[in-house]
Amino acid sequence: MLAGRRILLIIGGGIAGYKSLDLIRKLKEQGASVVPVLTRGGEEFVTPLSAAALAGHKVYRDLFDLTDEAEMGHIELSRSADLIVVAPATADLMAKMASGLANDLASTLLLATDKRVLVAPAMNVRMWQHPATQRNVALLGDDGVLFVGPDSGSMACGEFGPGRMAEPLAIVAAVEAALANGPMRGRRVLVTSGPTHEPIDPVRYIANRSSGAQGAAIASALVALGAEVVFVTGPAEAPMPLGVELVRIETAQQMANAVAAALPVDAAVFAAAVADWRVASASGSKIKKQAGGALPVLEFAENPDILATVAQMQSGRPRLVVGFAAETDDVIANATAKRKRKQCDWILANDVNPATGIMGGSENAVTLISQDGADSWPRMGKDAVAAKLAAKIAEALK
Ligand code: CTP
Repeated sequence: MLAGRRILLIIGGGIAGYKSLDLIRKLKEQGASVVPVLTRGGEEFVTPLSAAALAGHKVYRDLFDLTDEAEMGHIELSRSADLIVVAPATADLMAKMASGLANDLASTLLLATDKRVLVAPAMNVRMWQHPATQRNVALLGDDGVLFVGPDSGSMACGEFGPGRMAEPLAIVAAVEAALANGPMRGRRVLVTSGPTHEPIDPVRYIANRSSGAQGAAIASALVALGAEVVFVTGPAEAPMPLGVELVRIETAQQMANAVAAALPVDAAVFAAAVADWRVASASGSKIKKQAGGALPVLEFAENPDILATVAQMQSGRPRLVVGFAAETDDVIANATAKRKRKQCDWILANDVNPATGIMGGSENAVTLISQDGADSWPRMGKDAVAAKLAAKIAEALK
């Protein structure tokens, strides 16, 4: 809930601006008051009237609007909020922020504020990936600016990749986390989740029954405690958690690359059900049935063990590395051996016998195995397991 919280919402010039109107509504539904600021570019996509009508508040547009200065100066405007949200944040606006320019109302407010700033970038994929933008993102991160998104997907410009503004609900969750003052504030955590898909040919793949529900719940629980979460997920059935940096992958190799790119982190939770093997030479074209009934033979290659790789890093290892052990037999003995072998700090062991209904179900019964021994938790909802784990992680990182 955001009751009584004041959000200064800067709407930059991008097609994603239409989602910012929805964002105003969703913030207000949570009890926040929203003061909109439109950049010149923002006004091309969102009319001041619609922003004002939804916010129920005057819209600020121009630095040299003397009426505004008489009513409330730009310094006061930038400080009267609890949080400044920039959505959509264009490449241009982020470049101004990173270099400290103050040549219009939005950039001046951002430079003058003493409050936290949450940025929801939205731009073409190449603009997002450009070294100049990535440099600015890194600089802003160092300055303590918070980010939500961008998401990956198909874009208004017809291209595909990262650059889409995070969904309004995800931005609301990030706002709640930014204002939550939780024990994980300032901590960056990686969570892997879901199954991986290993292609056989362009239309077939090998997968497993993981729904991604436990990983998503863990990410949400960490966000709720104020953590910045990078969520690397395979093609999962469970709804995506809100307020995370979302990285979608398909194969184990892609997951390994995404995990490497997400480091450094304070803690890493490996909840993904990674395929141990991939098809050694997946066919580039669809494998056809052979005349005479000859069967195709698939040869496998071993995938990288992502958890073990991170747990055994010589430098830059996360302070806390948590794995899962999905077992069908001798659960605790196997999981204890797995923790030693992979050298992670904790393993959450669970019994994935079909009879337990855990894989794909809404409940989980886990045993936390650490160097101190095994601690069996009662069977409970996956959300409750996630909340208990997130609280333990917060405790361990204190
Ligand atoms: N894991 C990983 N990369 C892999 C395989 C597994 O990061 N290539 C991680 C999982 O996310 C999980 C842990 O390792 O946290 C254990 O996964 P599990 O499948 O139980 O273990 P395996 O190493 O595959 O061992 P086995 O299949 O022999 O039980």
